[in-house]
Amino acid sequence: MSRVAYVNGAYVPHDEAVVSIDDRGYQFADAVYEGVTVRKGQMVDLEPHLDRLARSMRELAMAAPMDRAPMRFVFREVIRRNRISDGFLYIQISRGVARRDHAFPTTPIVPSLIVTCKRLSIDGVIARAAKGVKAFSESDIRWGRCDIKSTSLLPNILAKQAAKEKGGFEAVLVDSDGYVTEGSSTNMWMVRTDGTLVTRSTDDNILPGITRATLKKLAEEMQIKVETKAFTLEEAKAGAEMFLSSSTGCATPIVELDGHKIGDGTPGPVTKRLVEAYRAYMEA
Ligand code: PDD
Repeated sequence: MSRVAYVNGAYVPHDEAVVSIDDRGYQFADAVYEGVTVRKGQMVDLEPHLDRLARSMRELAMAAPMDRAPMRFVFREVIRRNRISDGFLYIQISRGVARRDHAFPTTPIVPSLIVTCKRLSIDGVIARAAKGVKAFSESDIRWGRCDIKSTSLLPNILAKQAAKEKGGFEAVLVDSDGYVTEGSSTNMWMVRTDGTLVTRSTDDNILPGITRATLKKLAEEMQIKVETKAFTLEEAKAGAEMFLSSSTGCATPIVELDGHKIGDGTPGPVTKRLVEAYRAYMEA
């Protein structure tokens, strides 16, 4: 069965889905996006994703292509038409099509909405979490508004590629003061040797991850001590555990950073509890 995409009002075969070459998303990355995990046919944390999407659009003075109710309907329809049980729903909204000019168009234009869905083995993600992954640090060379989920991702792509070429699964982005900001497409966490879970504050110009917020809530419910504070690369390396979080990665232990073992080089107890809690949460 061929894949189906939603593009500006129509459900079309994925391979035939096209947008205008004058779309500002294509020309300028003048676009925002969301990625939602689908587990057993259900969207995980859909409302927080829609809240973040609305915020990204607001911050860029971008109009919404439609209200939330029809948007939810389109998402469900894309999942249904692609017969996805476990997968990743991708939503992208651009400012729309206009004659190329850096400034916003002066006459109102219609924002573009595309929605796609691909299969993603969540069981595979959980299996990978049982082993953990390697990561490599890279300089964070991004702009000052990383809180907006924009499709302008070149620094993220370059960091991820550099980490991949070294044999890593993810890049750990580090600012000029030596602090870990986040991953190229994930949020970063560490566990100190006293068992305290640490993650950076979302006021600090990182993407406020939806998985991060859910894991923080789950950790608090499990009475794990959580500190919302930036940590350095050196602190991470000296810590007991480290993991990343994202919609596609859930919670994934980082067992090696820059060739240095984190803890004993295997997923630690706090991370394992959180992986299990998040797995159960996705199915609740
Ligand atoms: N990435 N930080 C960055 C820079 C991200 O791109 C993402 C998500 C996250 C985690 O956010 P969330 O938990 O809401 O997925 C953090 C998605 C998965 C992507 O780009 O495909």
